[in-house]
Amino acid sequence: MKTLLKIVGVLVALVVMAAGAGFGYLMLAFPKVPPPAVVTLEPTPERLARGQYLNDHVVGCSTCHTQRDWTRFSGPIKKELEGAGGEPFSLGGAGMLYSKNITPAAIGSWTDGELQRAVTAGVSQDGTPLFPLMPYPHFGEMAADDMHAVLSYVRSLRAIESQVPARHLNFPMNLIVRTIPAAGAPQPRPSAQNKVAYGKYMTSAALCDDCHTPIDDRGQPLPGQTFAGGMEFLETGYRVRSANITPAADTGIGSSTEPQFVDKFKAFETPSDAVLSENERRQNTVMPMTAYAGMTREDLAAIYAYLRTLTPVVNRVTRFPDAK
Ligand code: HEC
Ligand code: HEC
Repeated sequence: MKTLLKIVGVLVALVVMAAGAGFGYLMLAFPKVPPPAVVTLEPTPERLARGQYLNDHVVGCSTCHTQRDWTRFSGPIKKELEGAGGEPFSLGGAGMLYSKNITPAAIGSWTDGELQRAVTAGVSQDGTPLFPLMPYPHFGEMAADDMHAVLSYVRSLRAIESQVPARHLNFPMNLIVRTIPAAGAPQPRPSAQNKVAYGKYMTSAALCDDCHTPIDDRGQPLPGQTFAGGMEFLETGYRVRSANITPAADTGIGSSTEPQFVDKFKAFETPSDAVLSENERRQNTVMPMTAYAGMTREDLAAIYAYLRTLTPVVNRVTRFPDAK
């Protein structure tokens, strides 16, 4: 009996040591990304214009890094707080995030390389690994000149002081998050003539799959459900589920023509500022529709062309289960 206890004791000690070593390894070896590059952003007027287009209508830095007004259609940003952060993002059981202040009041002292690393590789100035809801896996693949343009524009936002609550990640996500950041691998932007490839690039930059491809509780895309919708959001105060945007005929976008698809977005280019009624709020969307509406018709048409090449998935989604 004594020997048995001893053996058990030694085994427990070994397991604890192995866990300790594993923990130490995770803390020391990750996040595994190179040091910030020595780069200098050069904000030419062309870059600032391109950067503003991408920020306001495609990549959504300001959309996420600003508190949104959910009493209005698609939650427009509170413009006077642009970039000051503080918008909450619930991760369900995994924890809670808050977008950070990205105005010069918070990141003005960061080097351009530190900013680029945070946005494209997911490691903050102080070495903290960022949770990939901050879409660095997408941004790391963007064309270098587009990223240069966006970051130049973000640098030009008005400085606003703000206090953002600290994020909270539960075990094991607090450890898993350390392993996610990875060096960016910028890809050239395909020519707009190559509509499908260009559309794929824009779809990725506009983060459509982050909301339209359902994931499991470890954040992995569900197999066979790419762009099939059904992911649930609660930000508006009611449940809203993302639509199926695969080319499935009835349940997806299969029966929309290109002009119909583009017009659906363009209809919100000059959005109404009206405060929604209670019933309308039950059918409000988290999709930044009014921001996307400012994309050019060509860019929206290219996104449509790409989506049409996906495998159709039959998945009927009730988008507004709380609608009356
Ligand atoms: C889908 C929402 C979303 C989008 C879009 C987004 N961010 Fe973020 N960002 C976040 C969240 C949330 C965090 C905090 C993550 C964390 O705490 O782990 C963050 C963190 C950051 C940080 C780190 C700040 C710090 O103090 O550590 C920077 C810099 C940043 N984002 C810049 C950008 C830029 C530039 C863009 C556009 C190219 C952008 N973000 C787009 C949600 C977003
Ligand atoms: C923040 C999450 C989010 C992002 C990002 C997002 N969507 Fe959505 N989308 C939704 C939700 C939720 C719905 C269902 C509610 C609604 O219809 O707006 C939806 C609905 C749709 C619809 C159906 C609209 C209708 O009236 O039938 C289309 C089409 C669509 N999204 C396309 C896109 C495309 C293309 C992109 C990228 C440019 C995109 N979405 C990005 C969340 C998102």
